[in-house]
Amino acid sequence: MTRAVAVELRGVSCEYRTRTGRVLAVEKLSMQASDREFVALLGPSGCGKSTLLKMVAGLVPATAGEVLVYGRPVVRPLESLGMVFQSPVLLRWRTVINNVLFPAEATGRRDAAMRERAMALLRLVGLTGFEDKYPHELSGGMAQRVSLARALLLEPTLLLMDEPFGALDALTREEMGIELLRIWQEQPKTILFVTHSISESVLLADRVIVMTPRPGRVAAEITIDLPRPRSGRMRVLPRFGELVSVLQDEMGIAT
Ligand SMILES: Nc1ncnc2c1ncn2[C@@H]1O[C@H](COP(=O)(O)OP(=O)(O)OP(=O)(O)O)[C@@H](O)[C@H]1O
Ligand SMILES: [Mg+2]
Repeated sequence: MTRAVAVELRGVSCEYRTRTGRVLAVEKLSMQASDREFVALLGPSGCGKSTLLKMVAGLVPATAGEVLVYGRPVVRPLESLGMVFQSPVLLRWRTVINNVLFPAEATGRRDAAMRERAMALLRLVGLTGFEDKYPHELSGGMAQRVSLARALLLEPTLLLMDEPFGALDALTREEMGIELLRIWQEQPKTILFVTHSISESVLLADRVIVMTPRPGRVAAEITIDLPRPRSGRMRVLPRFGELVSVLQDEMGIAT
């Protein structure tokens, strides 16, 4: 079965203008993600991963090329989209539950059922009992989990995740990854997932796109042919190790 193309970048560049000159963050990058595909983006710091996600979300304009989501050019911030930023960006004057409910409120859909859903999502991310806390009362990892719950509230068809679990300890990180896969399988959606971790990309993704150092281009695309459902136990499979070393080679990491 061929699936629709959910996200497509065609020769996309992004140049930032700064006080001290121009920075070419992404250069002539082309990639696609199919509907319901889980695509991981892997690349060195500063190679343009966050920029790429922001272009897909319509938050940063491409300076060349085309960004299409379900065949439509992205010209403004998209609505049917959930985004988890690299830092949690919570509203500090709102409690946890009111942060999670923010997208519903912003779109005029806050009601009792939505509140139930927010509570269920907080349970899912392990934050039951923290509903009425304020962001400054949370650890970095907890704040990031609030932002994941917020991104899932409106059941987006496209989920953009920028190193969502980077602030978590290894064990929680793996648990959250597996939990994300469960959510993804229950409510199919397309996921673009930025990470620095090779093993995390192998554990979670259908396909890993490796980016070059800045300006970001596609260095390689590796299909992760491990069966689903995935679990942490798969790390011991020979194929898991092979895929990790293929990606290490692509990223130029000597073993
Ligand atoms: N708003 C901005 N204004 C000017 N330059 C920017 C801006 N955002 C990013 N850049 C520059 O663009 C390049 C790519 O940044 P980006 O944040 O996309 O990288 P990244 O791959 O997400 O890095 P990291 O892995 O460290 O998060 C960097 O050189 C950065 O300095
Ligand atoms: Mg980044």
